[in-house]
Amino acid sequence: MMPEKRLEDLHTRQLQRYFAVNSIIPALWLKHLVSLFEPGQDARLMFLSARVGSIEDNRLGGWYGYRASKAALNMLVKTAQVEYARRVPGVKLMCYHPGTVDTELSRPFSGGMPRNRRFSTEQAAQYLLSELQKPRAENQAVFVDWRGDKVCW
Ligand SMILES: NC(=O)c1ccc[n+]([C@@H]2O[C@H](COP(=O)([O-])OP(=O)(O)OC[C@H]3O[C@@H](n4cnc5c(N)ncnc54)[C@H](OP(=O)(O)O)[C@@H]3O)[C@@H](O)[C@H]2O)c1
Repeated sequence: MMPEKRLEDLHTRQLQRYFAVNSIIPALWLKHLVSLFEPGQDARLMFLSARVGSIEDNRLGGWYGYRASKAALNMLVKTAQVEYARRVPGVKLMCYHPGTVDTELSRPFSGGMPRNRRFSTEQAAQYLLSELQKPRAENQAVFVDWRGDKVCW
């Protein structure tokens, strides 16, 4: 699938696929995981989002399905955190932007990007693990990037 550049590129099946992979499957994880935690258990659940899913940060437009399905993911995680806080208060939910990582997904779009701005999958995994291990005081879901900086929702 190629990201939609203009409204004429929107197609039902492509939009459904984006939402199935990026929003619905993670929502089902949220649903099934909640009952596996003990009340008081300390844990993090991190969801692979993307900066392009930020509603506030959207200046360039395009990529309708990918953007919207990641924005939906972010909303599902933020909403679920309210319920998780009540049912399993030690479990913190996070949306994570890994940066540009050299994978099948990004390769068609990252050719013009300097090599030092694209992470190998090993580097990306290290950044992700270090972010996951930081203590978190927030009672709300967070949206952070690979540097640990907050991304606006
Ligand atoms: N790469 C980037 O620069 C970048 C930037 C921002 C955010 N992200 C996010 O990071 C995540 C991983 O991206 P990636 O670059 O690693 O993508 P990728 O190279 O396309 O890999 C996607 C992975 O998801 C699996 N997958 C796809 N559909 C699935 C399904 N229905 N059920 C279970 N697994 C499924 C694939 O499994 P198979 O290998 O078995 O097909 C593959 O392992 C995505 O959520 C992406 O949006 C990536």
